[in-house]
Amino acid sequence: MAKSEKRTIYYFTGTGNSLRAAQVVAKALGNAEIISMRCNPADVPATDSDVIGFVFPIYHWTLTEAVYEFISKLSINPNAYIFAVSTLCRINGYAFEVLDELLKQKGASLQYAKRIYSIANLCIVYPPFPSERGMIPKMESNLKKAANEIQNRRTNSYSKAGVLTRLLYPHTMPQYLSILHEIDKGFSVSESCISCGVCSHVCPRKNISIVNGSPTFSHNCSCCMACVAYCPTKAIQYRYPKEQRAVLDTFFTRRMNLPAKRKRYHHPYIAAQDLMLDRMRFD
Ligand SMILES: Cc1cc2nc3c(=O)[nH]c(=O)nc-3n(C[C@H](O)[C@H](O)[C@H](O)COP(=O)(O)O)c2cc1C
Repeated sequence: MAKSEKRTIYYFTGTGNSLRAAQVVAKALGNAEIISMRCNPADVPATDSDVIGFVFPIYHWTLTEAVYEFISKLSINPNAYIFAVSTLCRINGYAFEVLDELLKQKGASLQYAKRIYSIANLCIVYPPFPSERGMIPKMESNLKKAANEIQNRRTNSYSKAGVLTRLLYPHTMPQYLSILHEIDKGFSVSESCISCGVCSHVCPRKNISIVNGSPTFSHNCSCCMACVAYCPTKAIQYRYPKEQRAVLDTFFTRRMNLPAKRKRYHHPYIAAQDLMLDRMRFD
């Protein structure tokens, strides 16, 4: 890749895995900017970028709404080399095919896509797994390999949703997604809250404001876990609310509970301040 090329990587993250992935790729490419998908897509178009990347976590077997909406509205150079890196724990599902479809609507296409298995962060359902000690070095090494392939403009055919995912999706996810924005009704804040405002600054949906010293949720949640992961005093807890049980009561929702004692996870190399920057350059 020529040094003079313009390289732009857009990322979305809740707990830092995808931001770390974007950083590793940007460092390897050089002369690259990484931009958070929390920004307004009209303010950060990539019409003159020669290399464009999208780095995001998999939610609900596909792209999360914020990523979908951002890319839908983003202007890009259709002739750019376009790549995607997903971070996930198990099921990549429809993500790459949905992304490719969005790109096709802009006259472009997805040329390279990589899944990076990472630590599962949905701690309102389960304790984070597997252990950081084993997984972080593996992620770093797989990211370096992917960065090298991107540097060499490798192309590949992306993985698509498997048969089981296609069979199960219509019977599970739509109901769950119908309550997603209001999932934050289950958050509560304990006495250990110090009103520092970190939760509100790291939220990629601007869903949290501090009212009378206490985090208040506006029901536009993406369930990304940033607030619980980065709270310095573990003050944010979760219990699936009774009123939502009347709307949706499944095997999954019955397990939605975050006791104070449970370990929270965020990527060890990514601090809360990193999530607040929105743009970073790597020369
Ligand atoms: C709401 C939610 C839904 C998730 N759904 C999936 C999924 O469908 N498949 C999967 O493999 N991982 C899933 N995960 C795990 C994340 O994709 C994984 O931990 C990711 O690396 C988190 O990235 P981040 O640290 O950049 O936020 C989900 C996590 C959350 C918070």
